[in-house]
Order: sequence, then structure tokens, then C-alpha cells
Amino acid sequence: MIRTTGPSCTRRQLLTGAGALLLLTGCTGVPSTGTPARPVAFDAPLAIPPLAPSHVGPDGTRVFELTAQKGSTAFRPGVQSATWGFNGAFLGPTLRAERGEQVAVAVSNALDEPTTLHWHGMRLPAAMDGGPHQEVAPGRTWRPTWRIDQPAATLWYHPHPHGRTEEHVYRGLAGLFLVDDPADAHGLPSAYGVDDIPVIVQDKQFDDDGQLTLDSNRAEPGLLGSTVMANGTVGAYLDVTTERVRLRLLNASTARTYDVGFDDDRPFHLVATDGGLLAEPYGTTRVRLSPAERAEVVVALVPGEHLMLRSFPPNLGDVASSTAFGGTDTFDVLQLRAAPALRSSPPVPAALADIDRLREADATVVREFALASRLINGARMDMDRIDEVVTAGATEIWQVHSIDRLPHNFHIHDVQFQVLSIDGAPPSPELGGRKDTVYLEPGRTYRLIMRFSDHTDPKNPYMYHCHLLRHEDEGLMGQFVVVDRDSPRPTASDVATHRH
Ligand code: C2O
Ligand code: CU
Repeated sequence: MIRTTGPSCTRRQLLTGAGALLLLTGCTGVPSTGTPARPVAFDAPLAIPPLAPSHVGPDGTRVFELTAQKGSTAFRPGVQSATWGFNGAFLGPTLRAERGEQVAVAVSNALDEPTTLHWHGMRLPAAMDGGPHQEVAPGRTWRPTWRIDQPAATLWYHPHPHGRTEEHVYRGLAGLFLVDDPADAHGLPSAYGVDDIPVIVQDKQFDDDGQLTLDSNRAEPGLLGSTVMANGTVGAYLDVTTERVRLRLLNASTARTYDVGFDDDRPFHLVATDGGLLAEPYGTTRVRLSPAERAEVVVALVPGEHLMLRSFPPNLGDVASSTAFGGTDTFDVLQLRAAPALRSSPPVPAALADIDRLREADATVVREFALASRLINGARMDMDRIDEVVTAGATEIWQVHSIDRLPHNFHIHDVQFQVLSIDGAPPSPELGGRKDTVYLEPGRTYRLIMRFSDHTDPKNPYMYHCHLLRHEDEGLMGQFVVVDRDSPRPTASDVATHRH
């Protein structure tokens, strides 16, 4: 168990539903100051997660192996911290596969407690999704398999055990899953670890002994650590050898939202979001990333310069206290060190991808989701309750809003959605592409449109939830099943929890 120190709200205070907001102000765990960044020198080479080895079996299936295990990591020289990782001590290798390939993963659990492994952003059958129902017991191996059936994207994987996701991810269980599409001829930098760089951003809090703490001082919105790391490297630098680099940013933090840009405010191109490439590059100076969101950016450098990737104070919307929730914090994340001479890179193409725009007129169902405290539509997550039943292949609109003044976001398994509107207005270009997670500014209404897959399974639900992991663990989650048009509505007794 990660040590819990310092004042915090009691669970009971947080779980009183509609009353929680009132209690929040009287809750001693919310300091009135932000989190100062712990000073670091940027003198450690950025760790690049290795590409996971795989083998292709006789039937053409590409097979990977991942083992969740304990280890220890020196985030600072000479100080070992207990951590968890896949096939190593912290984080996991990058899985990579092509659209159309059949993949399989042998997921082994070498921890002392059950876990699961979820493929965040992936379209796949619910029984392979790795949500809370697909538990892997200690010492056991789970073998999901599915066909990659979506455009190129930066996806990721992380555990999803019921009530324990925050701790499993925080200790280090997370990694990237890159989907390639051989049909894409986008001309973006794509040499992994050379000019196409994974950047997994996480904040951590360390105690005096250098151990990770999970509840140092705040109850809301979850842990906000004073150390920010990239791929597990604190104070990371990257030697850049090309005119342009593509950074695949993943916010794998448990609660913190970032607003990423560069220290000199230079413009860059946003080229992809959660579910893949934008239709065209979007020139900007900042991109907001709430937990689980991804952004692919391309930035140009001049020979010899040092450029800092920085998180600026994020706009959290009308929250009760921006300062208390990280809205005034600034962190340096990664220093880019350009070589004295840079190899030329192709220009960023003017068009990137065809986005199959879903049309409001094609939606057959509109559902409403109101988030408050730890409840969605007044209900807390119940493993035995199916909240929504979706017809295979249906186009639906999900209208989502947060009615309390805490930071929340909204993630839906299996689909990539498009943001139709926010309070009736079209979204900014950074929310114009394929998304599976969206930050919810309090009080605003997000209309999301999505088309569900044909993977039907009345017994195995998919999840939708807030991806601030303490919120998720404490109940801000619901379940949906995808069924054939004519099948009867499933009941609780149909829900399958498999232990592997
Ligand atoms: Cu990234 Cu339900 O999770
Ligand atoms: Cu939340």
C-alpha cells in the first residue's frame, strides 16, 4: 500500500453526492496554494520506452507478452523508489501493430494482487477490453486477441482493476500502443526514438525517503505531485538531430491536467489527438491535456538551440479553486537540445487524413450524462448494473456535463467520438478530431457523436467514466453493453466477471 500522509477529506465526506460540493469548502485537504515544481536540473537523457518484441504465429497473429511486476527505480541518482512496471521496473514497452493485423497479448500478473489490462482508445470486443470484469489473478496469464480495426493513432494501455486503478497506474503500470496504418502517406516524422518521440507525462510525489506517496496533501482532484517526469525520467533532455520532431504526448497522470507548449511560446503543429490524425495540422502554442488524453505535435528547431517543453497553467474552467486543482502550476517537462547541424525534415503536410464526419442527422439515440461528485446521473458505479444498452453499429449522441465545480473528464471505451459542440458552439480545432477522452469544464454541455462497433456481447460491458483516477475508483463510472438490434435487454445476472 502506498503511504497516505497529511490531511485529506474522509471518504464519507467525498461520497455524499450532491452535498459533496458544500463539504468541499470545509474540507481541510484543499490547500489554497498551488504545487510548486520541485527544482530539477535537466541533465538526464530521456528514457525511450523500447518497442515490445513480438512474434507472428502460424495463423498470422502478432503476439506480445506483458508481465506486470514489481521493481525499483532511481528517479534521482542513488535513491531507489519502489515502483511497478511491465517487463521492467517502471512503465512498459511500446506495442506497435498495423491496422488489419490480428494481435494477441499474453498478459501475466506477477503482482501480489489482481489487476487487469485495458487497451485505452482501442476498438475491440468487450471481453478483450481489459476493464474491471477481466481480472487477472496473481500468477495467472490472460490472453486477449483482436483485429486492429481503426486509423493510425497513439493509444495506450493501463490496468483497470475495480477501485484500484489510481494506485496501479500511479506506481508505474502504463505504456503506449501505437497503431500504424499502411494506407497513410502523411509524411510526418516517423523514426521511433529519433524524430518520432514518445513523451509520457506524469506527476509524482515523493516522501523524504524517495518513495512514491499517493495522498500527500489533497483530496481533490486526486494526487497533484510536485515532480513531473517524462517516460519516467526526471529532468529529461533529448538530443535532436532533425529540423522537426514529432512528440507523441500522453498524459498518464492520475489527476493533473497540463497545458503544453514551449518556453519561448513558439508555435507548433498539432497533428493528431486521441484517436488519430487531424484532417489538417492546427498551428497553436498550447495544447491542454487532461488525464489519458494524447496529442501529437510537430515542432521545428534551429541548430544548436535548447528548447523547453513546458506545462503552463491550464485553464480548468469554472472550478471551485483553480489554484488548489493545479490550474496555476507550471512545470518544465523535457529539454530539446538541437545538434549544431540538423538533418532536413519534410514540411508538415497541409492535409493529414480524411475524417469520416459523423452527422447529427444520422444519430438514432441521444443520451444524457450528468457528472457530480462521484455519481453519473445520480448513480455510483456498480459492477452488477448495466447502465446503458447500445445497438451495434448505432450512431449516438452523448450529451455530457459536469454539474459540480471539480475538474472531471469523460472517457468512453471502444469508440472514438467527435465533439459536435460545446454549449452549442463548434469546438476549437484541438477538439476537432477523433477523441476518446475530453475535459469537462464545469457547467458546460459537451455534445459527443460516435458510431458503435459491431462487436456485440450482452454479458461483457464496456465502461465510460471520469479519467481522474481517484474519481473513477470512487465510483464516477458506468457500464454499457453493445447488443444486436433484436436481443432482449440484458439484466444484471447476465453480467460476466471472469477471473483468469
Ligand atoms: Cu484509460 Cu476506462 O480507461
Ligand atoms: Cu472526475
